[in-house]
Amino acid sequence: MDVIDAVNRRMSVRAFKPDPVDGAVVRELLEAASRAPSGGNLQPWRVQAVAGEPLKALKATMLQRVASPDETEYAVYPPNLWEPLRSRRFQVGEDMYASLNIPREDKLARQQWFSTNGQGFGAPVQLFFSIDRRCGPPQWSDVGMFMQTFMLLAVERGLDTCPQEFWSHYNQVVDAHVGLPEGHMLFSGMALGYRDEAAPVNLWRSRRDPFEAWGELKGF
Ligand SMILES: Cc1cc2nc3c(=O)[nH]c(=O)nc-3n(C[C@H](O)[C@H](O)[C@H](O)COP(=O)(O)O)c2cc1C
Repeated sequence: MDVIDAVNRRMSVRAFKPDPVDGAVVRELLEAASRAPSGGNLQPWRVQAVAGEPLKALKATMLQRVASPDETEYAVYPPNLWEPLRSRRFQVGEDMYASLNIPREDKLARQQWFSTNGQGFGAPVQLFFSIDRRCGPPQWSDVGMFMQTFMLLAVERGLDTCPQEFWSHYNQVVDAHVGLPEGHMLFSGMALGYRDEAAPVNLWRSRRDPFEAWGELKGF
């Protein structure tokens, strides 16, 4: 598979088949992803992959806890999101809920759908990416590059992912079940597994603004 094919196929998959993923494959992909660059080669990522019984227990707790989130440790979005970021966020939500046939007024159904994050959208593997609390924005960016490298490699192996900041709202639950590394803050979860090709939520693509909205070429 060419890199461009992996880039184009990768999307946030929000319905997975229950088929398990071999731990050796998960490890191989993570090791390969660690070729991702990082400023000063700090490699500031820490990742924990959870499956089987421990994941079952975490998901059971999440069924109870989803309505009472923990205190978040970082702002997932800046306050008072401005344009065009605000509209992009709004649009992706509308597109997703349209695929699920959940109208804007049906707050309960939207809330219930949001909760399925805590079940990893049915994925058999849940990853948790954390970062040393002493790190700053450059290292957070490094963790992002590690995650994206992993997601592309997963696609090459026929797997799919959904990165999930959702879990930052349940950092205590994750810590209790998984044991976050000492002094680390949970940045993001990620569901990993095989895409349910028939699920309507997987049958749409998020939009992108044209190059002119965010890019410039000078001196060519
Ligand atoms: C760091 C990060 C965290 C995210 N957290 C969530 C999440 O908690 N739940 C979710 O459904 N999607 C989550 N997403 C997926 C984004 O909504 C998605 O990447 C964006 O809408 C673009 O769509 P695409 O990934 O399908 O290209 C997250 C993405 C990133 C990069």
